[in-house]
This record gives sequence, structure tokens and C-alpha cells, in this order.
Amino acid sequence: MCDVTISLMRLTFTIQRFNPEVDSIVHPQEFRLDVGRGMTVLDALIRIKNECDGSLALRYSCRSAICGSCAMTINGSEKLACRTSLRKELEQHGHIAVAPLRNLPVIKDLVVDMASFWEKIRDVHPWLVSGARPTDEDIPVQTQVQGRANPQFHNVDACIMCGACVAACTVHEVSKGFAGPAALAKADRFLSDPREVPSATRARLSALQDEHGIWDCTRCNFCVEVCPKDVKPMEAIIRLRRASLERGMTTTGGARHVLGFTELVEQQGRLNEAIMPLKVVGFAPRGLLHILPLGMKMFFKGKVPNPFGHSFPGLSQLQAFIERVRRATPPV
Ligand code: SF4
Ligand code: SF4
Ligand code: FES
Repeated sequence: MCDVTISLMRLTFTIQRFNPEVDSIVHPQEFRLDVGRGMTVLDALIRIKNECDGSLALRYSCRSAICGSCAMTINGSEKLACRTSLRKELEQHGHIAVAPLRNLPVIKDLVVDMASFWEKIRDVHPWLVSGARPTDEDIPVQTQVQGRANPQFHNVDACIMCGACVAACTVHEVSKGFAGPAALAKADRFLSDPREVPSATRARLSALQDEHGIWDCTRCNFCVEVCPKDVKPMEAIIRLRRASLERGMTTTGGARHVLGFTELVEQQGRLNEAIMPLKVVGFAPRGLLHILPLGMKMFFKGKVPNPFGHSFPGLSQLQAFIERVRRATPPV
């Protein structure tokens, strides 16, 4: 336990510690610190390191929410320590608990290994594949890019690569191969760029159809909630899905699920769980065998509706509504 007295309010910090050279498991350590008004969690951690325990490991650089290096878990949620107010955390949670980003290997204390994060960013080829060098005739395209920059790139350019979204992602938690929200948002940034040649866009989307690609996202929205830069990675993933469907990439289970779902709702006015699995796996014997146990369970629990049941009243209004939405949605 370390006590440093400087000013105003005395707080107890619980910091998750792990030093691979001496510890076999992670363990919490408490520090008590008198903190001043307006301090951030990062300010406090730096003081703890300077005044209590120099061995505390953490990453930071800009202290201004620009470099992305100080992302960590603060009171159970992924945040940038340099823009997290101690006062607000205290008001909301009544204590300050700090831990490294979840679901990434811990190197020491609050420092995680970001190697897999960078590898996934590299895998989506985060660069523009444009045609020949721009000529005077291309000026309208350049102007279009500048004039529409913000809406067009959907704020994806604002990403500071902090990794908070990946740490919060429920799919990454159970499937470490998932490309993840940050890398997929980066891919979307180039999809939205009119200077990229169509063949490159197609190749980009095609690569994202594989296992661990865009169709693995469960749309839990956590990446949107924790992103400190309002990148909204989940929305970027939805744009990538739409762009894939518009280009006829419809063979994955995810794509078939979306198309089958829409088709059923449009035809019957509801989701029909008896037919939906067939829409997703088709009549492939292996796929059918795979879903058979689940189908049996659903049947015996009365969850399988009559596949030839009546349509719902008001179906024509619903169909007209779907058609209106289709016409109003611009292509990606
Ligand atoms: S919405 Fe998708 S990408 Fe975002 S956290 Fe959830 S599963 Fe991960
Ligand atoms: S998308 Fe947001 S949360 Fe994810 S790495 Fe970029 S800035 Fe961080
Ligand atoms: S120190 Fe750079 S984002 Fe926090």
C-alpha cells in the first residue's frame, strides 16, 4: 500500500498487476492517492508510477486522445485513460478500477500485446488502390473526394488505432481470428473512396467473405459504444455487407441469412423458423445434418411454426414499405 498526500480528495485505485517475471497470475493492487480537481485517470496513473511504484507498466504518449496508446479497461469499460475524468468515474462507479484491455495478451500490468491487432489491420490492405496517376480530367473526382469527405468516409478516418473496440468485441472474445471492428472499419474507408479502382474494391470485399470476415459480426454494438472517436465500426461492417450483396457476393451463410430473412418477411410478413435454416444452408446434406439437432430441439419445444402458415394481415403495406426503403437506400 502506498500513500502520497498532495491535495483535495483521497482516492483508492485498484490496478490489475501482472509481471511475467515474478507473477503466475494477475492480481489487484491498491494505491491511495490524493487527487486534484480535473485530473484524468492517466494523470493519476503517472503519479502512481512516479511517486508510489516505478515498476507499474503502462503506455501513453500524447495525453490528448490522439495517439491511441493509453486505451485500457476503466471500471469495466474500454476507455482512453487520458480523456477519462477521475471525478466522473467516481460519481458513476464510486471507485476507480483499472485493468489492461481485455482479450489481448498482457505483456505487463496495463500493457497489452497489440501484434494481432496490427496484423489484422495489415490484412485488409489499408491503402488506396487507384488507377493511373490523376490527370486534369480527374479533377472532378478529387473535388468530389474533398467536398464530401466527411459523409463519404463516415468518420472512419478518425480512428486512432487504440484497440478499444477489439477489446470490447464479443466475437473477438471467443474467436481470436475474427478480423475485428477496427480492421473492418479501415477496409470500409477505402470502399467509400471513389478513387479506388472497382477491381480492387471487388478483391477487397471478396477477401472479407471468408470465415472471420464481415459476416462473423453479431452486431452487438459494443465497438460503437466504446470507440472514443465515434468511428462506429459496426456501421462500417454493415456498409461492407451491403456492398458485397450489391456485387452479387451471396454464397456465404451470413449473406444467405440476410437475403433469406428479407425474402421470408417480404413473402409472409414474418420470420418463419421452419424455412429459414433451409434458406441459409440450402439442401446440402452436410449443412442439413449440422442443423438437424437444433431443428429437433426447436420442434419439441414448439418453436417451429407451420411452414405453410397464413400470411399476416397488412402484408401488402409491409411489402410496399420494404420497396420504399429499397428505393430510398443509395447503393454503397
Ligand atoms: S458489433 Fe460486431 S464488430 Fe462490433 S463489437 Fe459487436 S461483434 Fe464486434
Ligand atoms: S475504431 Fe475507435 S475504438 Fe476502434 S481502434 Fe479505432 S478509434 Fe479505437
Ligand atoms: S495518451 Fe495518447 S490517446 Fe491517451
